[in-house]
Parts: sequence; structure tokens; C-alpha cells
Amino acid sequence: MTGTDSTTRVDSIRTDPAALPLGARLTRGVRRMLGVDRERRWNAEYAKGGWEWLRNLDELAHHCVLAGYVAYLKPGSAVLDVGCGEGVFQEQLRGAAGRYLGFDFEEPVRKASRKATETIRFAVADMNEFVADEQFDVIVFNESIYYLHDLMAGLLRYEQFLKPDGILLISMHGKERNEPLWAQIDARYSVLDAVTMVNRKGVKWTTKALVPPGGAFEMPQQVP
Ligand SMILES: C[S@@+](CC[C@H](N)C(=O)[O-])C[C@H]1O[C@@H](n2cnc3c(N)ncnc32)[C@H](O)[C@@H]1O
Repeated sequence: MTGTDSTTRVDSIRTDPAALPLGARLTRGVRRMLGVDRERRWNAEYAKGGWEWLRNLDELAHHCVLAGYVAYLKPGSAVLDVGCGEGVFQEQLRGAAGRYLGFDFEEPVRKASRKATETIRFAVADMNEFVADEQFDVIVFNESIYYLHDLMAGLLRYEQFLKPDGILLISMHGKERNEPLWAQIDARYSVLDAVTMVNRKGVKWTTKALVPPGGAFEMPQQVP
């Protein structure tokens, strides 16, 4: 793991290419040699400020619904934010989480790390290789689930990092091509809540709060 002072403080995260299957290691090496590595593209875009618009007012809705889910369903919990970017969602948590770990590639994490504290941590890792040695109450994929190489295998792997009563929060853009992703997700997970929102410009997102099969999450009492 590479990183700044704030990222090196994080010890719960490991990117271990040696643990990957041979095929995955070779593909990764070839991509890097050819200079077509997506990681480089993301870093270059963040370095140019190309994703600062995620903090604009018209992006607020999905960050806030997800943060609301944490406050309502798992107040004071330990949250893992996969592909956290510059930590815009973390800002909207506004104290709802007890502990937060966000990870992404180097450049967004470099920017986010300015906000790091004892309980707000950022780390550099690839979501397809990430391994945690702790479990979280909430795992969030906020506009980042598209980058799992294999959606369902990836989600199954992340279930290991979820406490038995943990929940999964996902936000996806309302593009038609994301509907098959929701179909696969809905086939496995119980949906606690789902919200579809449209902003002034007509941009649409769906956010869902989900429980894995056999999960022990207990819903706060609801009035009939
Ligand atoms: C559309 S942005 C969303 C950022 C942030 N979650 C938000 O909503 O503000 C997608 C993020 O996924 C990150 N990402 C893409 N592929 C990744 C990977 N393999 N591992 C970790 N992060 C990745 C990108 O660097 C980027 O920050």
C-alpha cells in the first residue's frame, strides 16, 4: 500500500497482488505494461480536478439518502466506503458513523486524506483486491459498484467483511444498462428500502439498503 501519513495509519487494509490467481496477476501486469491501466486514468482525472463536480448540489441527493440510511439503520456504526473518491459521502455522514474507512486509488485518497482523523480513515486499494481484517456494520458502494470485475463474485467477497447483522448500501445511476445489475443484486439480497430520485437536470439514481441472505439485521420498529 502506498500513501500519505493519513493513509499509512490505516492498518486494516491489504492489497496483496500475490494472493490473486495467476490469470488475474498476468492481466494486471499486461494492462500496466501497455499503459491502459484504468487506475492511471482515474488518478490523472482526479489530479486535474475532473471529479470535483461530485460535490455539486445536484449530486447531493444520493450521498444524502445513503448517509440517511446509516443514521437511521446503523447509527454510530463502522462504515466501509468502497471507491470513496474524495470522500464526498463521508462529508454527508455528518457524524452518523462511529468509524469510517474509505478506500480508492491514490490520487482521490491523497485529496480525501486531509479529512482523516482517528475515526475517519482513508486508504489506497483496488476494490477487486481489497482484503480487510476487520468487519464492518455497513459497506457502501456509492456509484462505484460498476468497477467490480465480476459483480456477484465481488459482492460475495465483500460479504465476508460485513458483520452478521451488517447491511449493504448501493447507489447506481439510473441508466438502463444498470438494470441488469440491480436484477442480479435483488435476486440475492433482501431490500430494506429503495429510493429512486431525479434531480432538476433529470439525472436519476437509485439507492438501496440491503441485507445478505441469513443476515441478522433487525429493522427498527415500523408503524403499520
Ligand atoms: C463515479 S466515482 C464515485 C466516487 C464516490 N463514491 C462518490 O460517489 O463521490 C467512482 C469511483 O470509483 C473509483 N474506482 C474505480 N475503480 C476502482 C477500483 N478498482 N478500486 C477502487 N476504486 C475504484 C474511482 O477512482 C472513483 O473514485
